[in-house]
Amino acid sequence: MAKVGFVGTGEIAASMVRALAGQGHEISVSERNAAIAAELAAEMSEVTVRPNAEVVAESDIVVLCLLAKVGRQVLGDLPWRTGHAVISVMVDMPLDDLAALCAPARDIAVTIPLPFIPQGGCPLPVYPDSAALRGLFGDRNLVLPVESEMAVNAHFGVAGLCAPIMELMATAAGWLAGLTGNRVAAEAYVGALFKGYLSPDGSGQYFAAQLDALSTEGGLNETMRRRMLAIGAPDEMRAGMDGLRARLGLPDA
Ligand SMILES: NC(=O)c1ccc[n+]([C@@H]2O[C@H](COP(=O)([O-])OP(=O)(O)OC[C@H]3O[C@@H](n4cnc5c(N)ncnc54)[C@H](OP(=O)(O)O)[C@@H]3O)[C@@H](O)[C@H]2O)c1
Repeated sequence: MAKVGFVGTGEIAASMVRALAGQGHEISVSERNAAIAAELAAEMSEVTVRPNAEVVAESDIVVLCLLAKVGRQVLGDLPWRTGHAVISVMVDMPLDDLAALCAPARDIAVTIPLPFIPQGGCPLPVYPDSAALRGLFGDRNLVLPVESEMAVNAHFGVAGLCAPIMELMATAAGWLAGLTGNRVAAEAYVGALFKGYLSPDGSGQYFAAQLDALSTEGGLNETMRRRMLAIGAPDEMRAGMDGLRARLGLPDA
C-alpha cells in the first residue's frame, strides 16, 4: 500500500487513478481540474482532493500529469524530499529539467500511460526503471524498461499514432454501419477484427509476415493496400513521426 499523489488531475491522471482503485492506496489528487477531482473522490473512497503542495507533502510517490509548460511554472515551488519517487508522464519535459524542478528528489522516471490503463494490459515504457511504477501498475500492465531517455521519447513518437489509427478505425466502423445500420455491431466487428492481429509472435517480423499473408494479388486487402501506397500513406506517416524528432530530442533521420 502506498501514499500516491497526482499533480494535475486531467485526462491521463483520471485513468491512472482509476487503475489503482480498490488496492488500498492512499491517493491524493490536485484540485485542478476541479470537476474531474470531485468525480474521482466521489467514485473512490481512497481519493482525497488537495492543493498541489499538500499532494506532494502527503505522498511518497508523486505522479506528474501536467502539461509541460504548467509543470515548469508550478513544480519548482512544491515541497520535494529526497525520499520521493517521482513518475512523470509529461511529454516535452526532459529528465534534467525534472531533476532541477523536483530537487532534492532523485528517483525520477518518465513513462507513457494510455487512457485504457484501468482495464490493464497497458504498455508502460519507462526510463530509468522505476520500482514505484512497477509496484503501482506492474501487476496488471506491461512495464517495459528502456535503455535511455531517447528511447522513451521514441516511444512517445509512436504513441502519437493512436489518434490517426483510431481515425481509420472510426472511418471503417462508420462505413460498415452506413451499410448495415448497426453502429454497435460495426464497432464490435472492427475492434475484434484488428484485435486478432495484435499479438506479435516475438519474431520481430510479425507485422511484415501478416502483411505478406494479406497480399493475395487482386484480393480485397491487396486492392486497398495498393490504394494506400499510391497516396504514400506509410511514407507520410514516417514523415510525420520524423517531424516529431526535434521536439522529442531524437537524432535526425
Ligand atoms: N492524455 C493522454 O493520453 C496522455 C498519455 C501519455 C502522457 N500524457 C501527458 O500527460 C500530461 C497531461 O495530459 P492530459 O491529456 O491529462 O492533459 P489534461 O487533461 O489537460 O490534464 C492536465 C491537467 O492539469 C491541470 N492543471 C492546470 N494547471 C494546474 C496547476 N497549476 N496545478 C495543478 N493542475 C493544473 C488542468 O486543470 P484545468 O483543466 O483546470 O486547467 C488539467 O486537468 C501531458 O504532459 C501529456 O503529454 C497524456
